[in-house]
Amino acid sequence: MRIDKYLANMNVDSRKEVHQLIKKGVVAVNGKTVKTLKEKINENDVVTVNGEEIAYQKYHYFLLNKPKGVLSATEDRSQKTVISLLDPQDRYQGIVPVGRLDKDTTGLLLLTNDGQLNHELVAPNKHVAKVYRAEIAGVADEETAKAFASGMMLGDGTKLKPAKLKILKQDRENATSEIEIEISEGKYHQIKRMFGAVGMKVTALDRLSMGNLHLPSDLKRGKYVELSLDEIKNIK
Ligand code: URA
Repeated sequence: MRIDKYLANMNVDSRKEVHQLIKKGVVAVNGKTVKTLKEKINENDVVTVNGEEIAYQKYHYFLLNKPKGVLSATEDRSQKTVISLLDPQDRYQGIVPVGRLDKDTTGLLLLTNDGQLNHELVAPNKHVAKVYRAEIAGVADEETAKAFASGMMLGDGTKLKPAKLKILKQDRENATSEIEIEISEGKYHQIKRMFGAVGMKVTALDRLSMGNLHLPSDLKRGKYVELSLDEIKNIK
């Protein structure tokens, strides 16, 4: 890889600023000052800027607060995808969303180019807990909680694992509720179908956490933060 691309990829600075750093002579590879922007390096080379080592980071982890109206996909012919919310320099090769949130679902979505971690989080036998807050058209009550806790059967015969339902607000007059739900699998439209099975409708759905990873309260919709390996390591 070219040294200027490497430094930009490691988020040292933009490609343009990196060119300035190289021209200033503050970039070195294995102790030798870099003279040309076209110099090539490999993973084992030690790169420094002003004497500070810029270690190679192969995998990147971004925690996005997904807004409504964006697809959890890498590309789409006509619709905006979550990848388009990343700054161009963060669109590393192989970056994909970890699992899917529906187009109208908001909240925590992890994006990474670490295929192994992705697999460990979404594989059906891994049971990573996911917590959502939802607004419901219908009165969710203890009966609903019991039905969810027992591992319900969906209309198409899909048997679900037990889910925990916490009722935050009930408005009997307007027949609406606010709830928190914890599920440990990620079946297609799972939460919407669970409420559908008990005659209710999800009108808003927001993911709050996945494993030990929580949506930071100060992270605005459509914004994201990069997580360190330490932060991601304990997610399961
Ligand atoms: N369940 C759903 O129905 N939709 C989501 O986006 C996530 C879980």
